Amino acid sequence: MSAEKKELLSTAPYRGTRDFYPDDMRTRITIFNTMRRVVQSFGFEEYDGPMLERFELYAAKSGDELVNEQLYHFEDRGGRHVAIRPEMTPTVARMVAARINQLPRPIRWFSIPNLWRYEKPQRGRLREHWQLNVDIFGVDGIMADLEIIEIAIRIMEAFGAGKDDFKIHISNRKMLNHFLRNILGLDQSSAGQVCRAIDKKSKIPPDAFLEMVIAAGLSSRQCDQLEHFMNLNLQTLIACPDYISDGTQDLADLFSNLNRSGLADYCTLDLSIVRGLEYYTGTVFEMYDLHPQNKRALFGGGRYDNLVGIFSDQPISGVGFGMGDVTVQDFLSVHDRIPVTPAPVQVFVALYDKDYTGQSFQLARLCRKSGLRTCTQLDAVKLGKQFKLADALGAAIVVLQGPDEISNNQVTLKRMATSDQVTVPMEDMILTINRWLEFGQIP
Ligand code: HAM
Repeated sequence: MSAEKKELLSTAPYRGTRDFYPDDMRTRITIFNTMRRVVQSFGFEEYDGPMLERFELYAAKSGDELVNEQLYHFEDRGGRHVAIRPEMTPTVARMVAARINQLPRPIRWFSIPNLWRYEKPQRGRLREHWQLNVDIFGVDGIMADLEIIEIAIRIMEAFGAGKDDFKIHISNRKMLNHFLRNILGLDQSSAGQVCRAIDKKSKIPPDAFLEMVIAAGLSSRQCDQLEHFMNLNLQTLIACPDYISDGTQDLADLFSNLNRSGLADYCTLDLSIVRGLEYYTGTVFEMYDLHPQNKRALFGGGRYDNLVGIFSDQPISGVGFGMGDVTVQDFLSVHDRIPVTPAPVQVFVALYDKDYTGQSFQLARLCRKSGLRTCTQLDAVKLGKQFKLADALGAAIVVLQGPDEISNNQVTLKRMATSDQVTVPMEDMILTINRWLEFGQIP
């Protein structure tokens, strides 16, 4: 009989995506819970939206690179052109526009969606990532920009990072547009090309950057002017009448408020910050890691005053940021700050033998009622094997009730870390476990 060789399917996930085994999932949940806690402490509420959107949502404002090179899109069975969300901002703008008159302002919302971009997978870039989105709608002044920047800083601090670990690079799109259109005299298309070149500048060699701006139509004098502009500091910028625009005023106000709020040490002016997405209209910023092995942008955001306006004739301004889980994990790992996650099991209820199943289920029920993460031994094997399993699960305490304990209405508790063991009255079981877990001592 000829044994036909079975073709097995690959167990590898789709390129650029990750499987989250429970260990990875614990880390992901802990990281997201840290973000959630900080954002909620500023009074933000969580929202969510669909994974599929109409293609036009992105075609309208997200920019060429995202739409032409990175978007997953297809025709559904009903002939509709749909896209898998590559970012959350168009979705949240659509949701805000749909209830524009009902929502009390300012709107402070956040979400942690998974997003899809057809990228070449590399460090910090995958095809599926999760992204914390924090946005404020309905505040035209820079106080909202200030709050958004403070939230980004507080999240980094909640991960244990300080001002020597990261820096926020801030610019303003209105300023850059004023410079490109009114000082360099570029038309809209050339200005757009130069913006794309500036956005790529830190990722490409200087020659390649120069080639891009020359291809956009810049003369060598204009190239020098651009270089000079990108290296300006705040004092020179404000002092030079040529550069004065609405954007300069916003930038100056933002920096003086960052100063007054004690946040200036975390921030720096960087006129080479553009951000790839086309909808930004004012403040733009990127958070940079300062670690020598990871000197790169971690996440970014900015102000977009016209995005809701594509859905509603009542425009409302927005400002926010998107913080990706991949770059955050890279940051935490080079800074040795991957959070310690709680063990999934605190209490393991051993099984004396199979006739004691009801007993062990009842003990577990009591523990769970007190909020302890508890699991039971499901088949009668030697106690030594059960202790090994409890250890592998990370259980801090094993509970056991055999015939002696039952006849005396007692229970035996073993502390896995030290192998200490006590037999206590049943009514003291929860108190003893909690003391051990909380203080690491026997009452
Ligand atoms: P973005 O710069 O395209 O902005 O993405 C924000 C962050 O998401 C990036 O800085 C990075 O941390 C992460 N990210 C983006 N693409 C990937 C990828 N392929 N793999 C891993 N991480 C990635 C936006 O998406 C804006 N919608 C953010 C925003 C919200 N602006 C205002 N509100």
